[in-house]
Amino acid sequence: MKLVIIGGGSSYTPEIIEGVIDRHHQFPVTELVLVDIEDGKEKLNIIGALAQRMIEKSGVSIQLSWTLNRQEALMNADFVTTQIRVGGLAARAKDERIPLKHGLIGQETNGAGGIFKAFRTIPVLMEICNDISEICPNAWLINFTNPAGIVTEALLKYSAHKKVIGVCNIPFNMKHSVAEIMGCNPEEVEIEFIGINHFVFGSKVLIRGEDKTDQVLAKLSNSELNYSPANIVSLGWKKEFIESIKLLPNPYHQYYFQTDEVLKKDIKAFHENGTRAEIVQQVERELFQKYQDPNLQVKPKELEKRGGAYYSHAACSLMASIYNNKGDIQTVNIQNHGAISDLPFDCVIEVNAVITKDGPKPVTIGRLPKQVKAVIQQMKGFEELVVEAAVTGDYSLAYASMIMNPLVRNESKAKAVLDELLEAHREYLPQFH
Ligand code: G6P
Repeated sequence: MKLVIIGGGSSYTPEIIEGVIDRHHQFPVTELVLVDIEDGKEKLNIIGALAQRMIEKSGVSIQLSWTLNRQEALMNADFVTTQIRVGGLAARAKDERIPLKHGLIGQETNGAGGIFKAFRTIPVLMEICNDISEICPNAWLINFTNPAGIVTEALLKYSAHKKVIGVCNIPFNMKHSVAEIMGCNPEEVEIEFIGINHFVFGSKVLIRGEDKTDQVLAKLSNSELNYSPANIVSLGWKKEFIESIKLLPNPYHQYYFQTDEVLKKDIKAFHENGTRAEIVQQVERELFQKYQDPNLQVKPKELEKRGGAYYSHAACSLMASIYNNKGDIQTVNIQNHGAISDLPFDCVIEVNAVITKDGPKPVTIGRLPKQVKAVIQQMKGFEELVVEAAVTGDYSLAYASMIMNPLVRNESKAKAVLDELLEAHREYLPQFH
């Protein structure tokens, strides 16, 4: 059984290698290929050598290789994962710095930064999907690349390949946070998720099958809780906020409901020690130093400093359940198809689904709770504009995406930031130039 990891040179890759090794008894990968581009060649060689050492130490028989030739790698693939960052962290730093310079939220997947991450990423993933549909049409594409929900929607709407599932680690993080809050094991926690990626809410929490939603919400409203992954500041939630929405927020909601507080922190950080991308560039340098140590044969703990830590659980448990037709419930990004009646039929939602060999079957949510219905619909409307703009390269759709994003919304700033980012990322935006 063949797994291909596109973006194999990523500093996150040791985590998914560990995930494949740990699940080998139920997910027997026999061939694993890491794929990257010319610019990532040096990183790919370092990651390949470390992955080789990790596999040898584990004793499982997986034939590993790494290559810049994506088409060759895709031959006979059963699963393909994508974890790419077009333009690398340097491009992310611009996505963060340029909006912040104009007094707007500058963030990897939210606001103007998230729009441009989507604009750079969607054309590249469309090409990858076209390769997959020609070379290994039966393969499942598990997309981790951010903004995962928007990107997955673009691929399912416009690419030739339909076996595409988006995944994210936030639902996993939220389960761990609830387990910490309630003093139980994460496996005992079930959360009903409603909404869309990086804007998803938890509408119900079961612990060992019992509804503990009210208890969890009550605990959430004290602010010393650390309820965020490494990359998101944790400001805590006001009691009134939690009591009025009666839902579990996700860490990214701080950008939307505590915008001024987060902006103040981010602008201060921007002037003092740089944006998140620049901090991560330092983490990456340290990680790749460590990865080159020939005595290193396991995933180093430092990788947990990254916000995307534990992503491999989401990816590997999903692939294992598809492979075994397990029928368990996992949280995925897939087309709505009526699961949420208040959102467009063909949009992508982040929802719990029964995982079968024919892919995820979404549980039915029905109507959205009235207190968040409008804001989720607005976000989805915004995301659909981003998808259209990304695939067409239409300037007015790109402007509409900016102006309809709750973190931009100001017409003069929208135009200034749009034009500056279009120029800053010119080499990665063929559809606009
Ligand atoms: C979060 C998100 C990921 C995101 C990551 C960024 O966990 O779920 O989608 O990519 O953090 O982490 P970083 O360490 O790169 O800032």
